[in-house]
Amino acid sequence: MTLTNDLLLKVCNDLPTDRTPVWLMRQAGRILPEYRKVREKAKDFKVMVKTPELAAEVTIQPVDILQVDAAIIFSDILVIPEAMGCNYLMEENKGPFFPKRIEGTADLNSLHVAEMEELSYVYQAIQLTKQGLNGRVPLIGFAGAPWTIFSYMTEGKGSKTFSAAKKMLYLQPELSHRLLDMITDSTINYLRGQIRAGADIIQIFDSWAGVLSPEQYSEFSLKYIRKICNAIQGVPKIVFPKGAFFARTELEKLDCQVVGLDWNMGIAESRALMPSKVLQGNLDPCALYGTLNDVKNQTRKMIDAFGPTKHIANLGHGLYPDIEVDKVKCFIDTVKEYSASRKAIVA
Ligand code: CP3
Repeated sequence: MTLTNDLLLKVCNDLPTDRTPVWLMRQAGRILPEYRKVREKAKDFKVMVKTPELAAEVTIQPVDILQVDAAIIFSDILVIPEAMGCNYLMEENKGPFFPKRIEGTADLNSLHVAEMEELSYVYQAIQLTKQGLNGRVPLIGFAGAPWTIFSYMTEGKGSKTFSAAKKMLYLQPELSHRLLDMITDSTINYLRGQIRAGADIIQIFDSWAGVLSPEQYSEFSLKYIRKICNAIQGVPKIVFPKGAFFARTELEKLDCQVVGLDWNMGIAESRALMPSKVLQGNLDPCALYGTLNDVKNQTRKMIDAFGPTKHIANLGHGLYPDIEVDKVKCFIDTVKEYSASRKAIVA
């Protein structure tokens, strides 16, 4: 199917566009009253994730309401550990919790590499979303990076330090590599399933990249992201390594078109270190707590710093649930208007 709005795909392929495309991490979520209504009806987050009609409905909401240039499939990175045999609960206002975390060999032996078919509810959601979008904008599929998934499986929940996960890297490096390998193979199967179902682009979220040292990041994270990037071909790939400013020279060499920046990463410096990559990001989500005028100014500053090409506008991490919808709209509208006006001047 040809897309009516293919700005994002064009920029991923480094083709010229009239303006900078924009979407937001966590655009399908609690900032929207329309999302909260569906969520209330479904009661449980996981019910929404596993009901393709509901997942498709909330995936499309931000396209209608916010007018973003892409949809991202409503799901969670934690469907992978669950498919591997490590179940999770999503606790209200607390986040994910794994009743049985991975601590040693016996726990690892109870897991398996997830086959593509084990996540067919996500592929059904993707197919329904593609029908609902009817070619309006591209659909982004996603997965967690193996290190970030490993962190949740070994910690059993979110953490500030991820010290249990890091302890395993120091004390049981071989076991760690075995688990990371299993997650990687599961993720490759999963992303292939998403692409087969219709995902136009994929993003890999390494949300906990920043807790590792450069050496550890190279050995326990980047190695596996590289394996995934090499295995997945045919659609543009976005890698979002939150906090891994120290790895930008190595990221430049990855087989991916786009690298996502968080707000700590300098834009000019990132351009210099990753000249071949399209860059995504990177306004601090908290900037959207400012006044509408502040949001406009900050967004323009970001557009100026990235320049007119090789940029996908986004935040430096996901939207927080208490950010107001009109601030989000202001960010999106400013990206569209200001980047178009700048291009007109260049032309
Ligand atoms: O971006 C999108 O709009 C698509 C949907 C999406 C969700 N989670 C929905 C969600 C995506 C891409 C994710 C990825 C995800 N999940 C990540 C990587 C991105 C990041 O933020 O770093 C991580 C670390 C997770 C794990 C996770 N899921 C946590 C830590 C939490 C709880 C935190 C919170 O915001 O409450 C979730 C829950 C979650 N995933 C929600 C949504 C909309 C909120 C659940 C709810 O509706 O109550």
